[in-house]
Amino acid sequence: MKKIIDKKNIVLGVSGGIAAYKSAEFLRLLVTNGANARVIMTQNAKWFVGPVTFEALSGQKVCTSLFEEEGDASIKHIDWAGEADAVVIAPATANIIGKFAHGIADDALSTFILAVTCPVLVCPSMNTHMFESRSVQRNLDQLKTDGYFIIDPESGELACGTIGPGRLPEPEDILDRLMYALYPNDLTGKRILVTAGPTCEHFDPVRFISNPSSGKMGFAVAKAAEHRGGTVSLVTGPTNLADPNRVSVIRVRTAQEMADEVFERMDTADIIVKTAAVSDYKPKDQVEYKVKKDEKEHAMLLEKNLDILKEIGKRKKQQILVGFAAETENLAENAANKLAEKRLDLIVGNLIGEPASGFGTDTNTVTLFFKDGTKESLPTMHKDDVAHVLLDRIIKM
Ligand SMILES: Cc1cc2nc3c(=O)[nH]c(=O)nc-3n(C[C@H](O)[C@H](O)[C@H](O)COP(=O)(O)O)c2cc1C
Repeated sequence: MKKIIDKKNIVLGVSGGIAAYKSAEFLRLLVTNGANARVIMTQNAKWFVGPVTFEALSGQKVCTSLFEEEGDASIKHIDWAGEADAVVIAPATANIIGKFAHGIADDALSTFILAVTCPVLVCPSMNTHMFESRSVQRNLDQLKTDGYFIIDPESGELACGTIGPGRLPEPEDILDRLMYALYPNDLTGKRILVTAGPTCEHFDPVRFISNPSSGKMGFAVAKAAEHRGGTVSLVTGPTNLADPNRVSVIRVRTAQEMADEVFERMDTADIIVKTAAVSDYKPKDQVEYKVKKDEKEHAMLLEKNLDILKEIGKRKKQQILVGFAAETENLAENAANKLAEKRLDLIVGNLIGEPASGFGTDTNTVTLFFKDGTKESLPTMHKDDVAHVLLDRIIKM
């Protein structure tokens, strides 16, 4: 799923902080996503988690010392540094941050880091007062200047009882930043506006017309665009999905609210990707009380919602506009019609009702229909991967 991690050489550096136990979980996440992960730990980290844990999880020998490996003639700190695609230091103690900032190389991890030329992510984790101390902040500034990626610690109640910043982020969030570091930043400087999810059109305060869109496809596009350096806004209808990292998320309910938010932002966007499943109709009358079930039948008049995609097509200037078409039949014909009618540059068509495609699933089977009449059918893929292929094609435009 997280393809960018697959078969990559990732070195996990573990130093002696209380959050070292979480790095075992992070290592597991790397391995389950196909990474070739190896661990270098400081001597003090061994007080918190044993090397055996990391060896079992990575299936590889852990490096804990420059000198003590009997019968091993390799110079690990140089070899591993040369082979690494990325390095993650989690947790990074105040001590190791200080050593990195000053080029001190008195153990395996601090010596290794000097030989590394790939991206390095540093995850500071410590007591809040330690984190906020002038020397740690000064050292972190130095690391930023030197090109390290610093992943800010989370705030909350820490193991030491203090409340404030200092907690190691969750493994999934560290992985998310690692992906950002690994993807080419080919959308840097571009603004991407994405819509996602269903809309809900109420006819009374507790009932509404909607559809089963989960929002997964749009969230995947937003996340992928952010990983590639874009500045992303995501206007979404109701979903259960968490906000993607560093994406500006605007949550709406109705088609009208979605339209207002999108029109406000479209002029500054370079790329607009509309994956939202907007209700075509809304109840003509909305009552402020819960409709009672007195009558045997209840007729409801529906009126058409504004066609947001068509309206963007009319108003757009030089933006690239991408739409999605979920169809139950005649996909090619309907997609081609929509492409022309709504002045799209590209439409992504998928047949709903297929087991591995459409609403709610993690995968999608789509065909891309381009403005010039060509099309490209993609195999069934995870929605994250569909999002990246889509961005590849958009970037080519
Ligand atoms: C119980 C305990 C928990 C600690 N937790 C942290 C921590 O979360 N972050 C940190 O920077 N230092 C922490 N320390 C202090 C470091 O272990 C200490 O500074 C050590 O020299 C770090 O060595 P290293 O950077 O080589 O691993 C802790 C110490 C103890 C005894």
